[in-house]
Amino acid sequence: MIQSEKSELRKERNRQTLLKAKIASSWAPKNSGALPERDFSIKPLRLGPLEIGTPMLLSPMAGVTNWPFRVLCQRFGGGGMYVAEMITSRALIAGNEKAFQLLSFSPEEKIHSLQLYGVNPKAVYMAARIVLDRVKVDHIGLNFGCPVPKITRRGGGSALPWKYDLFAKVIGAAKKALDGASVALTAKIRTGIDEDHKTYLEAGRIAQEEGADGVILHARTCAQYYGGHSHWAAIGELKRELSIPVIGNGDIFSGRDAVDMMRETGCDAVAIGRGSQGRPWLFSDISAAFRGEDQVTVPPLGEVVSCIKEHFSMMLEFMDGDQERAARAMRSHFGWYLRGYPIGGEARSAIMQSDSQEELFSLLDGLDPALEPDEDAVTSTRGRSGFQKKVHLPYGWLDSHSLTENEEDTLFGLDVLDASY
Ligand SMILES: Cc1cc2nc3c(=O)[nH]c(=O)nc-3n(C[C@H](O)[C@H](O)[C@H](O)COP(=O)(O)O)c2cc1C
Repeated sequence: MIQSEKSELRKERNRQTLLKAKIASSWAPKNSGALPERDFSIKPLRLGPLEIGTPMLLSPMAGVTNWPFRVLCQRFGGGGMYVAEMITSRALIAGNEKAFQLLSFSPEEKIHSLQLYGVNPKAVYMAARIVLDRVKVDHIGLNFGCPVPKITRRGGGSALPWKYDLFAKVIGAAKKALDGASVALTAKIRTGIDEDHKTYLEAGRIAQEEGADGVILHARTCAQYYGGHSHWAAIGELKRELSIPVIGNGDIFSGRDAVDMMRETGCDAVAIGRGSQGRPWLFSDISAAFRGEDQVTVPPLGEVVSCIKEHFSMMLEFMDGDQERAARAMRSHFGWYLRGYPIGGEARSAIMQSDSQEELFSLLDGLDPALEPDEDAVTSTRGRSGFQKKVHLPYGWLDSHSLTENEEDTLFGLDVLDASY
């Protein structure tokens, strides 16, 4: 088929879909055929007491997965699990207002899922209890995957699983806090610190022993940051090692990628981060792929604009009506939504700088709703990329898998009410 015919076919397909499309409960699926026959089945994901109908997760992303975005993803994807961004234990213990704001859910959300970060088992215990007291929650994930130097330098995030004893204690503390509550507990890990210091198999075993209901593996080391492609084979290895569910994470940018990861690794579910940025409809494509359909949603600009408006309106509610904060929080979303659409630099920059709903909506209304994007720019890799050159760790961290007294003093001696991390 020649290029122009292909392009026409795609446009027609999109028109058919988007004629019926509404930013409501679902967009009509646009099928471009069937995926190849599968020799495996897609089943609901069971995490302890929790059943997730469609085995897909929105991966927690700081500054991104607050409830307005989660609601949009759920509208498109239906029965997956949409996880809130990380909340630090210290911030909750300190009564930090912003942390409590992150604990909020929309009445529309079917599953209440959030993520806690902490290094000190006692603080994680206290934070989990605070969560139980404040909100109805179905799932708590623990973050052991963060590669940010500010975090790893303090033994947290992806540095923590190296200390097997501390890792076990943090999970054990969360498990104890959830005792008697019907809440699923998971641990999110990376493959290790770097190529010479892998931890995922041992960390997976420990998480299972300590009572985690599942493990989410972002198949990169901390040193890899977001660079290159994630090492899916590690997900398969971990799956073979554990009896609790393993959720694969890394580089899913289409429904086909999701199915490929399930097939190649045997994982029980997939978690999607960057691929959903500016594309909440990716969850509709993934649901379709799980039904065997090859759906790639590439909406014309008018549909994207409706989505941005909906997102902004919910963000405004999330920000208690503060227009400027809502606009600021939406800025990176604007960039992601509009990527690949030839709207011109001037319009793009005006949208980015808008600081009220009125201004934003009037700018959006000035755009041509029929504008089609460059398909590759819309569907290809997006979001953070690049390698971290050096992993920042506490002094002597890699010398032993056990936490020394000195290290314990340094890490836990810090003020528990210091909410800055
Ligand atoms: C902007 C951004 C923020 C993130 N914040 C978190 C977070 O709060 N907690 C977490 O466990 N992972 C966080 N991640 C990592 C993602 O959840 C995910 O593991 C990673 O992006 C790999 O998946 P992907 O290839 O689908 O993006 C973040 C990633 C990005 C890009």
